[in-house]
Amino acid sequence: MTHFPPGWRLGVVQEVAPPGVLDLGPGYPGPDLQPVELVRYAYARALDEFGSAALAYGDNAGALPLREVLAQRAFVEPANVVVTAGTSQALHLLGTTFGRPGQTVVTDRLGYDYGRAILDSCGLRLVHVPADSEGMDPVALESALDGDVAFAYLNPTFHNPTGRVVGERRRRELLEVTRRRGVLVVEDDAYAELGFAAVPPPLARLDPDGVIRLGTFSKTLGPGLRLGWLTAGPAVVARLLGHGLFHSGGSLNHLTSLAVSVLIAQGEYDRHLERLRVRLRGRRDALLDALGDLDVTTPEGGFFLWLRFGSSQSENGLVAAASQAGVRVAAGSRFGASGAPRVRLSYSLNRPEELASAGRALRTAWERSGALAERISS
Ligand SMILES: Cc1ncc(COP(=O)(O)O)c(C=O)c1O
Repeated sequence: MTHFPPGWRLGVVQEVAPPGVLDLGPGYPGPDLQPVELVRYAYARALDEFGSAALAYGDNAGALPLREVLAQRAFVEPANVVVTAGTSQALHLLGTTFGRPGQTVVTDRLGYDYGRAILDSCGLRLVHVPADSEGMDPVALESALDGDVAFAYLNPTFHNPTGRVVGERRRRELLEVTRRRGVLVVEDDAYAELGFAAVPPPLARLDPDGVIRLGTFSKTLGPGLRLGWLTAGPAVVARLLGHGLFHSGGSLNHLTSLAVSVLIAQGEYDRHLERLRVRLRGRRDALLDALGDLDVTTPEGGFFLWLRFGSSQSENGLVAAASQAGVRVAAGSRFGASGAPRVRLSYSLNRPEELASAGRALRTAWERSGALAERISS
């Protein structure tokens, strides 16, 4: 069963698995990966250093100490950084600033389901672009841009749900299309700091004025912080900061941004990231080992494994067989998969021994239901 400390109960946290269930559904760090002591220290230091200024309305773009360290890491200027309350909030802000109801957002056929729901709530219509083995197809992107487009929404690094990383050549090809068509790109880079190997430059490095890049501390420190940031060119930043939200409330998350700036400035954040990456990699390997020769991706970062099954399998049947074996998994159709069944497994929430046991239980359950016989080879 997924191990939750006592505070993890409904009414306090968003979601917990029912007792007895190993939950491989959610994409957030497990309780033992969240650095409670480090965050306690960070808030105390921020209050020591900034006193009542930490409890004031913060600078509209976000407190300079955080924007400075984030800018340095992203090779931009502090004026190019806006602090957000996380990627979900940033998507809503972008959807309401750069989109009008009825316009379209061009995005991958498979993608982050809840992010799509936010854009949908802004009244935007999603247009899905097919991918080949290297990522979104630039020719298909070009024709998808024919409509009344608000922006393109991409997640090229450790993509949710597939874990895929789009290579540099394809990144440049896609940007060549969006630049030529004058369409803004929103790059969701939620997992960028959680790589086990080097990754290509972010889209925003390749086209700083044409790409709005979204970062979040949800996956590295904890989603409860509700802290993220975006980088963008000056025109985009000016338009965003014209939103009434900033004039009324100032920084979207002031005290927390000061606390996190302390961790980054002191090197604590990078040391934490190093430990976190090692532990996530161990979790990925524990789950992969237990799944044996199932048709599964080996992601070089992020939180997710993506499993493919033959088209004669039923996705509902696979999810139900997993559930009967005491394991919760996410159906691929949630993320837009159609046709052959797919399943997403998250290795972020559970400890390695729990992941190994979940992987073995899934294998046995799916073997019994005949899923392995349908294994596909490409
Ligand atoms: C691709 C992607 N973007 C954004 C988020 C959510 O980010 P935040 O917690 O900063 O709102 C997630 C979480 O699952 C995600 O997978």
